[in-house]
Amino acid sequence: MCGIVGYLGARDCTEVLMDGLEKLEYRGYDSAGIAVFENNEIKTVKTRGKLSQMKNKLETEGKPVGHCGIGHTRWATHGEPSDVNSHPHSNGRVTIVHNGIIENYAELKEFLTEQGYTFLSQTDSEAVACLLDYYYSERNPLHAITETLKELRGSYALGIIFKDFPERVYAARRGSPLIVGVGDGESFIASDIPAFLKYTKDYVLLDDDEIVRLDKDGAKFFDLHGLPVKKETQTAEWDVEQAQKCGFPHYMLKEIHEQPEVVQKTLDSLTSEGVPDFSEIGLTDEMLRGVGRVFITACGTAMYAGIVGKYAIEKVARVPVAVEIASEFRYMNPILNAEDLVIVVSQSGETADTKAALELAKSRGAKTLAVVNVKYSAIARLADMCVNTLAGPEIAVASTKAYSVQIVSLYLLAFRFAYARGAISESEMKRLTSLLEQTPQAISRVIERSDECQFAASQLINTETLFFIGRGFDYALSLEGSLKLKEISYIHSEAYAAGELKHGTISLIEQNTPVITIATQRHILEKTISNMEEVKARGAYIIAICRKGTMFAEGSVDLKLELDFGDLDDMLVPLPTVCALQLIAYYSSVLRGNDPDKPRNLAKSVTTE
Ligand code: AGP
Ligand code: GLU
Repeated sequence: MCGIVGYLGARDCTEVLMDGLEKLEYRGYDSAGIAVFENNEIKTVKTRGKLSQMKNKLETEGKPVGHCGIGHTRWATHGEPSDVNSHPHSNGRVTIVHNGIIENYAELKEFLTEQGYTFLSQTDSEAVACLLDYYYSERNPLHAITETLKELRGSYALGIIFKDFPERVYAARRGSPLIVGVGDGESFIASDIPAFLKYTKDYVLLDDDEIVRLDKDGAKFFDLHGLPVKKETQTAEWDVEQAQKCGFPHYMLKEIHEQPEVVQKTLDSLTSEGVPDFSEIGLTDEMLRGVGRVFITACGTAMYAGIVGKYAIEKVARVPVAVEIASEFRYMNPILNAEDLVIVVSQSGETADTKAALELAKSRGAKTLAVVNVKYSAIARLADMCVNTLAGPEIAVASTKAYSVQIVSLYLLAFRFAYARGAISESEMKRLTSLLEQTPQAISRVIERSDECQFAASQLINTETLFFIGRGFDYALSLEGSLKLKEISYIHSEAYAAGELKHGTISLIEQNTPVITIATQRHILEKTISNMEEVKARGAYIIAICRKGTMFAEGSVDLKLELDFGDLDDMLVPLPTVCALQLIAYYSSVLRGNDPDKPRNLAKSVTTE
């Protein structure tokens, strides 16, 4: 959520800031604003609403003309979305933009009020602007920042400008993402790389409790004591093209279509000579043999990928795996020891709850392995070992290709785990890996059936509530299919283990209640069919998603989506099957007039609790 941008250089600062905020829209927001030095005065324009409203306001109030400034898209946490609560926030000599939550803002505001400060907004962020001003008494920006940061509790990414220094931008972070872009005679700060990718691919990662100063000599870095810190400049592997829509109507559809390619890339990066190879990240067979239990902890779609991983690891490696919701795990005082392997899964690598769960696991001595899609992210840098998935930038809020490469990584881990522990032979590991190599084509075959997925979606257009059911891997898929659908179509949907529905919830089945049944697991197909008949008998409208050739009794299914999985083992069919669920969700959203890329109330990366 929220986006921060900052710029210093020869370009039109307002244009660079607005362009950067547009590239960060996928992160979710409700307000926007910029502050730019114009003739050595800070001109601020901000508004509740989308960037389109911001553009209108720039037209009516006049566009600041300058070369140095900061910008912000807000995802409100303290104070409703409004013009006055929008960022930037100023207190005379200091203007800031903030991402995160200042947990001790109330006591800071009380202290600052005693010092004579007044507050215009309801936000926690405004307290930071005033505290910076309070410590700015010696007119030393770095001193004001270091003293202020020492008093803040909570999370922050800050962009800061001082009235007396019209050619400087400062930034600092703790717990919220912030990256520095390094160009030729210009520099940037941003919440994520796409904001400045069109200007430069060179970036520097700001770590927690570090400060950066942009000035005419470039970017300089400091620690919390104001001492210089040496940082490494890296070059992004992404290009602007990858981060754009490339002719698709929405990022989400583009990213669904990218799945065969990115699954293949991830497979290639994690295998060598036809078997899984994690040696580059330090995960050895010896270490895997020493693991007693596995925990997988994540949020949302990443957690549902973890459930597929659980089923795969337990099926082939016979190691117990517990999947825990990260926001629960971090507060449930989990029983962990050095023989435990805690796997955290995260597309963004910045999800606050997942990061906190990882920190807890490390503090308890467990081995930690991250599966992330953003290699420069906080989680990637915190974990003992990190699998970098190669989905490329995932812009749509609804995660699709990232989920697929997450489960590819977990399958490969399961196969290596099983082999390392002697649960399967090397030839079996090779066989399973070669089957996994067939999944990109299986996914492509599903994408070729997009029209059938669109038709299935059209049957749901007036639905307000529906169910997904399945058993085993199909239950794991039901969870993801249900989340995908509800988060972008706004249809209330619930995923249920097919065998569990009759223990209560079946009372909600009425005439024509849609029940999307995932029936790909052949060893329990008969049981799933029984569950389908139970809901059919109560009037349900059944959409069955199954392997090509699966037979159902006449009249027992209203719509059948038969998918060609080729020779895939049932364990691996979540990869093509989830593509059908993603397409059904996508078309349901579009048919209901929603924007699947930017669903209401949601943010791409939830960097606050
Ligand atoms: C998925 O479509 C959602 N956008 C959401 O559940 C997401 O998966 C969750 O917030 C976790 O994000 P992460 O993978 O970046 O940690
Ligand atoms: N907590 C701040 C506010 O409510 C910043 C929220 C954000 O990250 O956008 O304004």
